[in-house]
Amino acid sequence: MKINVIFLLRDKKDDFFTGKNVVIIDILRATSTMVTALSNGANGIFPVSSVEEAVKISKNLERTTYLLCGERNTKVIEGFDLGNSPLEYTEKVVSGKKIILTTTNGTKVFDEVKHSKNVLIVSSLNVSVVAKKMIEIADEWYLICSGRNGCYDESDALCAGLLIYKIIQNNVKVELNDAGRTALVVYKSTKANFNSALKKTEHGKILIANGFEMDIDFISNIDSLELLAIYLNNTVSVLQ
Ligand code: MLT
Repeated sequence: MKINVIFLLRDKKDDFFTGKNVVIIDILRATSTMVTALSNGANGIFPVSSVEEAVKISKNLERTTYLLCGERNTKVIEGFDLGNSPLEYTEKVVSGKKIILTTTNGTKVFDEVKHSKNVLIVSSLNVSVVAKKMIEIADEWYLICSGRNGCYDESDALCAGLLIYKIIQNNVKVELNDAGRTALVVYKSTKANFNSALKKTEHGKILIANGFEMDIDFISNIDSLELLAIYLNNTVSVLQ
């Protein structure tokens, strides 16, 4: 199976991901928040790039049916219901609700994959489920790292490396691009201390400085969720 890791989206033309199989990674924290919200019963997630777009979508929905969510500079957006901490997305809060989510980097990637073939959402929390689905589909895959402000983000590289590692553990022969080989090396260098590796990244340090260390502890629970999330028709939902 050929796996290509993409560290920098800016190098790709607008239609690059059309018809391709992709996995979206924003381990800190958008994709971790998404899979957590869905596992706690959220009724679909609408990832959008801007605050304005999020507000506009909310205006067409009945107020009791949705939560307006997202962050800028790690903090909840003024007037929004929730930020981007997975710990906020408890069953009591999100069950049955549609989640309109805008984050600094992660939700922007969804604009690039509207015409892709299969779009899976990965975090450390559901990594083995995603690995299994990729193996089942047995086609070429693109792992898109959301990055941070257009730059390489090592937390996403760690997640990409973890996903590749899980696939290799299933005795699948994998051909990697250069970024894929790098991601695997970065993951293996953690020597299985994923939590400490995440905390050492630039993004991890920013989250800790802003009071979100517990998010990283939660996200470090590899494979705690048996949930496959896909993006289809502008919505992230659970594939049953
Ligand atoms: C992002 O989209 O950049 C992140 O999810 C930011 C964050 O840590 O909240």
